[in-house]
Amino acid sequence: MTSTERTPQAGEQRISTVELGSNGPVVGIQGLGCMGMSFAYGPTDADEARATLERALELGVTLYDTADAYGSGENEKFLAPFVKAHRDEVVLATKFALGIDPSDPTKRTINNDPAYIRTCIDASLQRLDVDSIDLYYMHRRDPKVPIEETVGVMAELVAAGKVKHLGLSEVTADELRAAQAVHPIAAVQSEWSLFSRDIEQSVVPTAAELGVALVPYSPLGRGFLTGAFVSADKELSANDFRRQQPRFTGDNAAVNAALLAPVRQIAEAHGATPGQVALAWVQRQAQTFGLPVVAIPGTRKRSRVEENTAATHIALTDEELALLEPIASQVSGDRYADMTFTSAGRE
Ligand SMILES: NC(=O)c1ccc[n+]([C@@H]2O[C@H](COP(=O)([O-])OP(=O)(O)OC[C@H]3O[C@@H](n4cnc5c(N)ncnc54)[C@H](OP(=O)(O)O)[C@@H]3O)[C@@H](O)[C@H]2O)c1
Repeated sequence: MTSTERTPQAGEQRISTVELGSNGPVVGIQGLGCMGMSFAYGPTDADEARATLERALELGVTLYDTADAYGSGENEKFLAPFVKAHRDEVVLATKFALGIDPSDPTKRTINNDPAYIRTCIDASLQRLDVDSIDLYYMHRRDPKVPIEETVGVMAELVAAGKVKHLGLSEVTADELRAAQAVHPIAAVQSEWSLFSRDIEQSVVPTAAELGVALVPYSPLGRGFLTGAFVSADKELSANDFRRQQPRFTGDNAAVNAALLAPVRQIAEAHGATPGQVALAWVQRQAQTFGLPVVAIPGTRKRSRVEENTAATHIALTDEELALLEPIASQVSGDRYADMTFTSAGRE
C-alpha cells in the first residue's frame, strides 16, 4: 500500500473534503492544529504526538497547521519527518510575522517588512525540509507596513514557487479586501468558537463575498469548551499560555464554566462530548454564512483526534443552535491580555 492509499479501520468514517476557498486546495473538512505539540500548552509526549499526526491522516485530515513562531521553529522541525513521509497527502500551512519570546510568551513582536518575510520563508522551507509551502499565512498584521506591500511580497513567493496559496490571520474585513485586490487569498485564519464570535460582524461576511475560506483557530476555546479544565491558574502548568488569557483565570473562569451548561445538555442528547458539540457548531457556520469552514482543533492525542473528527458527522438542530446562541455574548474576559495584536483591536 502506498502512502496515498489509506483504508479506514472497521466502523470508521473518513471525514469529507472541501475546497479551501475559490482558489485554494482541497482539504479534509477538519484540519489539525499542531502548535501544542511543541509549544504553549505544557509538557508533550513526542511519540504520542507523532502517532496523532499519523492517525489524523488515516481519518482524512489533510490540513496541518504550524507557524515559525511555535517554539521558535521547533514545531516546524517536529513536523518535518511526517510531512516528508506523506508529502502528496499533506496540505502544509505555516506562518510568518510573529515573534514570541520563548521564556515569556506574553512578549511578542510583529514584523511585516518585505526583507524579513523573504528571510522567514527560506527558514521555514529549511526547517520543514520541503520545496514549497502549500498555504503561507501572515500570522499578524503590522500596521506600519501597508497590507498591499506585505501581500505583494507574499505574491512574489508564489511566483518563485516557494508558496502555493496565501492566507492571512487575524485581519480585519478592510485588510482582507485590500489584500485580495493584490493576490487571491485562499483562507483567513482567526479565532472562532462558541466563545469567540467577533469576526462574524464583518470578517466572515467579507470572506464569504470574496470566496475566501475561514480556518477557525482555537475552535475548542483552547480546550476550555471540552471541560478539560476550568481555572488555568489553578490547574495548568506554570508555562501554559492559557494562564495569561483573562477568560480562563481569576473569577472569569468560574463564570465562563457555568456557560457550558447548554453545551453539555446538547452533548448528552447526541451521545457526544461537549467538545464535539463545540466543533459541530463551528462547522455549521459554513452553512450559516455560505463559505468553506475548516476548523483546526489542536490535539496531541490519538483518542482526541478520533473524537474531534467524529464531530464532523454531528448535525445540530435549529433548537440546539438557539440554545447555544447567547453564550459568546456572556463570556467574561478577553481572548488575549493584549488585544491590540488581534483584528478586533484594529476594527
Ligand atoms: N493564527 C493564530 O494566531 C493561532 C492562535 C492559536 C492557535 N492557532 C492554531 O490553531 C490550532 C488550534 O488552536 P488551539 O490549539 O489554540 O486551541 P483548541 O484547538 O481550541 O484547543 C486545544 C486544546 O484542547 C485540548 N483538546 C483537544 N481535543 C480535545 C478533546 N477532544 N477533549 C479534551 N481536550 C481536547 C488540547 O489538549 P491536548 O493537545 O492535550 O489534546 C489543547 O489543550 C493550534 O494548534 C494552532 O495551529 C493559531
